Amino acid sequence: MNLLLETQLNGVLENIFLSLGFDTKFANVKVSDRADLSDFQCNGALALAKIEHKNPREIANQIAQQLQKENFCEAVSVDGPGFINIKLKDEFIAQNLDKISADERLGCGKIKNPRKVVLDFGGPNVAKEMHVGHLRSGVIGESIQRIERFVGNDVVSDVHLGDWGTPMGMILSEIIAADGNLDKVESYDIAQITEFYKKANIRCKEDESARENARVITAELQGGNPLYRKAWQHLRSESVKAVKQNYEQLDVNFDLWWGESDAHETCGEIVKIAREKGISEIDNGAEIIRLEEGNKPKPPVILIKSDGGYTYHTTDLATIKMRVDNLRAEEIVYFTDSRQTLHFEQVFEGAQKLGIAPNVELKHIVFGTVNGADGKPFKTRDGGVMNLETLIEMSKDKVRQSLPKAGEVDGYGEKEIEKMTSQIAIAAIKFQDLKNTIASGYVFELDDFAKFEGKTGPYIQYAIARINSVLRKAKQNNLNESAVVLVAPEERSLALKLAQVHNVIFRAHKDKEPSIIADYAYTLAQSFSTFYNTCPIMSADTSAIIGSRLRIAKITRDVLSLMLNLLGIESPEVMLKA
Ligand code: ARG
Repeated sequence: MNLLLETQLNGVLENIFLSLGFDTKFANVKVSDRADLSDFQCNGALALAKIEHKNPREIANQIAQQLQKENFCEAVSVDGPGFINIKLKDEFIAQNLDKISADERLGCGKIKNPRKVVLDFGGPNVAKEMHVGHLRSGVIGESIQRIERFVGNDVVSDVHLGDWGTPMGMILSEIIAADGNLDKVESYDIAQITEFYKKANIRCKEDESARENARVITAELQGGNPLYRKAWQHLRSESVKAVKQNYEQLDVNFDLWWGESDAHETCGEIVKIAREKGISEIDNGAEIIRLEEGNKPKPPVILIKSDGGYTYHTTDLATIKMRVDNLRAEEIVYFTDSRQTLHFEQVFEGAQKLGIAPNVELKHIVFGTVNGADGKPFKTRDGGVMNLETLIEMSKDKVRQSLPKAGEVDGYGEKEIEKMTSQIAIAAIKFQDLKNTIASGYVFELDDFAKFEGKTGPYIQYAIARINSVLRKAKQNNLNESAVVLVAPEERSLALKLAQVHNVIFRAHKDKEPSIIADYAYTLAQSFSTFYNTCPIMSADTSAIIGSRLRIAKITRDVLSLMLNLLGIESPEVMLKA
């Protein structure tokens, strides 16, 4: 079902255009820019006039005359050079809302041709602390995953763990340097492993022979040295445990926990295909694929380094092959910051030359960086890396300022307040991220992001909780919802806004842009607030109006919850305020 008013209007217009012999491609409406004049506008007459060599007002009048006969139109006028302004009858909008209320998908249809979509996000690395980029990738990816599923696509999400490159050899050689061997590896926890990595990183920066040693160990690890493999297995599983905990807190979920290492066997096949096709060559001891097509030559894809090891290019190419062959991917989408733009251009072009992903859409969604007030990548107040733990704690501290203390409200002890605190804190973090367009990056707002008012996650959660409380009270008073009747202008505009829900989700889907949903949720919550302040619900004049307003409130609650859900944000049933 698609209960979008535009879709219904477009259908009617198409018939009118057909009957008048006009090209139906211009038979569409948009939400009016002039809410005072009309609800929707059709500007098709202007384009038609050029083709038909007629006066646009004349054409607009012909269409308007037909439209007027439709019983859902309150008023149709032709304005300016030939704009058709349409105002809908209140009853029509009301009935539409009743239908939305009765539909479990709130009137949102699904896409016609669902696809198998593989989403590659998160992308943390073994032993390296997750930076804000990994968080952003997780938060954005989770939202896109939910949007894709909601519109009906078949989604597989994969964390694509960085577990196979030189850093692996660096950690192993650092442990060997400290212990003389790898005997103690299995006793090391994630904190110790991360410490080894940090030391290795410093050492390799300063010392060429350490770098060389790490390279050799990496190549041997990849080549199958059993001692290295066994030690690496432990590093990997400790890291996965830690990363899972992190993403769980943020409610970021993956179907697959594959990593670069899982592509190892297939890397060999990629090299084989390249050789068979005659597209690889040896260059300074390395095996490469040159990318010189087009007018902008890129550096080559490196399949095998001179030391025999595979690269980040090779694992990504092999992963594409696996996703296409085993998962039957029709679309693969990657989410990273702009530092990997060239990498993905090379990989996608390489995939095309190799012919491993025919008819598969490969997309790299580049997000901007999260910065601090100084415009530099976001750090803690003392200048350290902003890890997830610190970020969540900071957000919780803010939220605590707005909530009562445990025990201050009946039935809300330590446990309940703590749960509410973290639901709101996570909403604050995620919404602050998702309200910005993906590409733009943003400055992490340290003071207002967790407030209960303004364009924040908690504001939307609060709007939902407030409606929940109205609905609970209505129930206690045996008041039930009933058919929508629109009496006040505030409820009419709220109703029109609610009818946009399908459109909003599909635009967010098409543009892969959760901020469209965040914007809508915010303006919808505002619109509800205006309605709530001007239209009494339980003390309205008649029971028909009470029932109608309860229904409007319930749909608003359901739409807002759906919006937060698509952003990957939970909404607590009750939200207390200090
Ligand atoms: N591990 C990478 C990083 O930390 C991100 C992985 C992105 N996905 C991919 N298939 N290359 O930058």
